[in-house]
Amino acid sequence: MSGNADVDKLVVLISDAAFEAVVEYQKYGQDVPALSCPVVHPLDSATDLIKLRRALRQLEGACRHLYDMLAPPVEYIGKNTMDFGPVLLRTAVNAGIAEILEGRPQGMHLLHIAEATGLPEPKLTQIMRALASRNCFIEVDTDTYANNRISQALFKDSETRSCDYTWLAVTQCHYGLDSYWEFLNNKQVDVADVPDNYKGLWSYARRNSAGELQDSIYTAWGKHVRIYSQVLSPYSTFCDIGSGVGSFSLHLAKLRPDLHITLQDQPHVLDDALQLWSKEFPDCTLDKRVVFEPLDFLVHPPVQGQDYYYMRAIVHNWTDNDVRRILTNVRKAMGAHSRLLIQEYSLAPQNRKRGAGEAARYGIQQAPEPLLPNFGWGASRRHNLDFTMQLTFNAKERTVGELIELASSAELAFVKFLDLGTASVLEFQSARKDESSQSRL
Ligand SMILES: C[S@@+](CC[C@H](N)C(=O)[O-])C[C@H]1O[C@@H](n2cnc3c(N)ncnc32)[C@H](O)[C@@H]1O
Repeated sequence: MSGNADVDKLVVLISDAAFEAVVEYQKYGQDVPALSCPVVHPLDSATDLIKLRRALRQLEGACRHLYDMLAPPVEYIGKNTMDFGPVLLRTAVNAGIAEILEGRPQGMHLLHIAEATGLPEPKLTQIMRALASRNCFIEVDTDTYANNRISQALFKDSETRSCDYTWLAVTQCHYGLDSYWEFLNNKQVDVADVPDNYKGLWSYARRNSAGELQDSIYTAWGKHVRIYSQVLSPYSTFCDIGSGVGSFSLHLAKLRPDLHITLQDQPHVLDDALQLWSKEFPDCTLDKRVVFEPLDFLVHPPVQGQDYYYMRAIVHNWTDNDVRRILTNVRKAMGAHSRLLIQEYSLAPQNRKRGAGEAARYGIQQAPEPLLPNFGWGASRRHNLDFTMQLTFNAKERTVGELIELASSAELAFVKFLDLGTASVLEFQSARKDESSQSRL
C-alpha cells in the first residue's frame, strides 16, 4: 500500500499546526522568538495555552509520524533505545550550567565552564555537544556555549520550575527503571515498591536557596487557570481536594476574588500551604475567603455542599479501589447543585474504531488521518505520565471511558468533557438525585 499520499497529508497537518501556533504567539504582541535567543516571551508564563497546546499536539504527532514513516525502522529502534535526554538535563541542572552562562551572550569556553562547574572538561564537552544538538544551549563559537531560550528555562528561579521537574523525573520517578524487566517478572516485589520511591513526590512545596517556601513544582504544568476562571459561576464555593500547597488555587484566587476557596490536603502539606499563601497572598484569609481544612480523602468526605469540587492530578496516583473510595467520599459531600471537576492526563484510544465510539459518546476530538486518533506522538506526555504512575504508585492514567465507569461505581454521573490540549477535565454530578444535568462549566 502506497504511503505517498500520507506523506502529503502529514506535510499539510504540520503546516496548519505551525501556522496556528504562530498565531497564538502573536496574540501576545510579539513574534515567535528564534530558538537561539535567550529571551522570555510573555506566552511562556501565560495561563491560557489551550489553543497552542492543541496545535502542538498535532504538530508533534505529524512531525514524528512523518519521520517514522520515512526513516528505515532500525533508525527508530536505535533512536528510542539510546536516549539520554533525562540524564543530560539533570546534569545541566545540577551543575548549574544555565546560571553560569547567564548574562554572557558571547558565551563561555568549555574550559571555563569546566572550571566553574568542577566537571572534567572532556566529559563536559560531550555533555554540551549532546545538549546543544537537542537545542538546549547553543555553541556560539568553537567550544564556546551560551544560553538559548530553552536552556534559560533551567534557571533555578525560572517561573517554569523546570529544574525541579528534572530532579523529580530523574530521581523520584525513574527509580528502578533500569531493572524494569526484572521487576515485571518478579511476582513478589513491584517496581513501585522500591524504597523511598514516591515520598518526595508528595512533598509538593519547593524552597528557594534562602529556604523560603515557593510555589510547587507543578505550577507550570496545569496552568489552565484562566479557562476555569472564565467558566466558574460568580460567588461560588470551590473546594480543591488534595490541593498540595495550592498551586492551582493560588492563581485562581487572584483571578477570581469573588470565589470562596477551601484547600484540603494532609495536615503537613497544609502547613506548607499556609506558609506559602501568607507570603504570596497575605490577604487571602480575610473574610474567610480562603480556608485550609485538613483531610484524609481515603477516610472522610471533604467539606459539604460546595458548588465545585476540584481534583487535579489526584486520581492518577491511586489504584481503582482507592479511587472508588476517594470518589465515594467526595460524592457524599456533594449537594444536588455540586459539580466535581477531575483534571487528569486522560488517555484517548489509539484505535480508530474504539476512538470513534468514545468521540461520539463523550465529545472527544479525534486526530485527522493518517495520524493515530489520539495524535500518536502528540499524546506522548500523557503516556509518559501513565508509565510514570505505574513506576511510582502502581497506578495509571485512564481513558475517559475508564474514568467515567469508575466514577459511576461511586454513584457519580458524567456531565461534560473539556479538552485542555495536554490534560483534560471531566465534570460529574451526583447520580443520587433527580437534578438537571446542566453543565456548570
Ligand atoms: C499529585 S499531588 C497533586 C497536588 C495538587 N492537586 C496539584 O495539582 O498541584 C497529590 C496530592 O494529594 C495529597 N494526598 C495524598 N494522600 C492524601 C490523603 N489521604 N488525603 C488527602 N490528600 C492526600 C498529597 O499530599 C498531594 O498534595
